[in-house]
Amino acid sequence: MGKNNIRYVCQECGHNSNKWLGKCPACNEWNTFAEEFIDKEVVTKSIGISTNKKPVPLSEVVIDDEERYKTKIREFDNVLGGGIVKGSLVLVGGDPGIGKSTLLLQVADAVSLSHLKVLYVSGEESLKQTKLRADRLNIKSDKILLVSENNLDFIVKYVDEYKPDVLIVDSIQTVYNPNVSSSPGSVSQVREATATLMRISKVDSVATFIVGHVTKSGAIAGPKVLEHMVDTVLYFEGDKNHTFRILRGVKNRFGSTNEIGIFEMSLKGLQEVKNPSEIFLSNRPESAPGSVVVAGMEGTRPVLVEIQALVSNSSFGTPRRMSVGVDHNKVVMIMAILEKKLGIQIQGCDAYLNVVGGMQLSEPAIDLAVVVAVLSSFRDKVLEEGVVIFGEVGLTGEVRAVSHVEQRINEAIKLGFKKCIIPKGNIEHTVSGIEIIAVENVEEMLQYIF
Ligand code: TYD
Ligand code: MG
Repeated sequence: MGKNNIRYVCQECGHNSNKWLGKCPACNEWNTFAEEFIDKEVVTKSIGISTNKKPVPLSEVVIDDEERYKTKIREFDNVLGGGIVKGSLVLVGGDPGIGKSTLLLQVADAVSLSHLKVLYVSGEESLKQTKLRADRLNIKSDKILLVSENNLDFIVKYVDEYKPDVLIVDSIQTVYNPNVSSSPGSVSQVREATATLMRISKVDSVATFIVGHVTKSGAIAGPKVLEHMVDTVLYFEGDKNHTFRILRGVKNRFGSTNEIGIFEMSLKGLQEVKNPSEIFLSNRPESAPGSVVVAGMEGTRPVLVEIQALVSNSSFGTPRRMSVGVDHNKVVMIMAILEKKLGIQIQGCDAYLNVVGGMQLSEPAIDLAVVVAVLSSFRDKVLEEGVVIFGEVGLTGEVRAVSHVEQRINEAIKLGFKKCIIPKGNIEHTVSGIEIIAVENVEEMLQYIF
């Protein structure tokens, strides 16, 4: 092992250097460098995917329709852009315990029903543990082959031997290449393993799923390097205290990244949620001040969600502002706008905001609903029943137009809402069947509420 082969690699971004550094010059993280042995031969060997290829004219490239496997789990197929693409490499990332293994086992079962062969490689759990989970999910297929393995060479061997159509590797952080001397989960190992799996998936046309755990900072460990290498990156997210899970496409070479899939974790595994709005609004309190329904968008899909606010007099010198599901800075900004534009003495109050159901709302269209929720709680007045609100609020108190107006309104109609408060700039895109109130600024909106 020559000294020249020792590199110090940043475990966050993969930057490498000849000497140890306290702070990574590429991603500015502290104390992320670890010593790794780089075998130059292995690295160069793994880069080439295959030979004997000739460039062909773009116009002559044929796309056949049977390239995708449908799982019939609609929420899952949609996120992938219409099913699993043959020979694609998909990374499924998420916090530990969120349900990645459960999801992939259910996917394995679904594709095995279409007589496809699945190889499920578990590096984290024993066969018994996986079997226990399968029993819980009532999965009995004999088309699913299980193996508990960490060694990349053996995984390659199993794929050669059993020729599966779908390969699942759970998780990439536990897989190691014995020719690379750094420990499993390090950047070199993760990169090496992914490159090998990429080669398998392309050469043998195996649709491959790899599970990646997310590090504390939110990136997939062994991180950015991995996202660039794979065809599709899906994040499985959700609040552990709630049962809802969202599968979000962050990168997709075979479809749009706008789609999301919504699931509910039940005692018998993940169930698809076909109409999320109904579930999010199911336990809504009646006639409660501070509660407002917003028509938000999750990808290309409208969802109605309840936003709750609680504004009360503060007993501290510096009032508390807390928010769950909405960006904290947005709440602070909206409260400043309320004070300045509507003259409301809110600066001495504590304010708490919560999006019900563990949803995260980040789009600007929720601003107007936050305004009304805060006002409703501050004045202790109930917003009339059957009202849905959306619109962006600017710093001068103007209500700005947003996108997907028709979808949002249609969703409100579908769920029996009677009235919709929207930005004036969106008036041309409305649909009939519901009373529309278009407002230009927050002052004007005050006339219509409470
Ligand atoms: P798991 O798939 O093991 O998570 P990950 O692979 O992302 O670490 O899921 C773990 C959680 O899901 C665990 O807390 C138990 C829960 N769960 C259910 O609620 N119902 C079920 O049917 C299954 C299989 C798991
Ligand atoms: Mg797992």
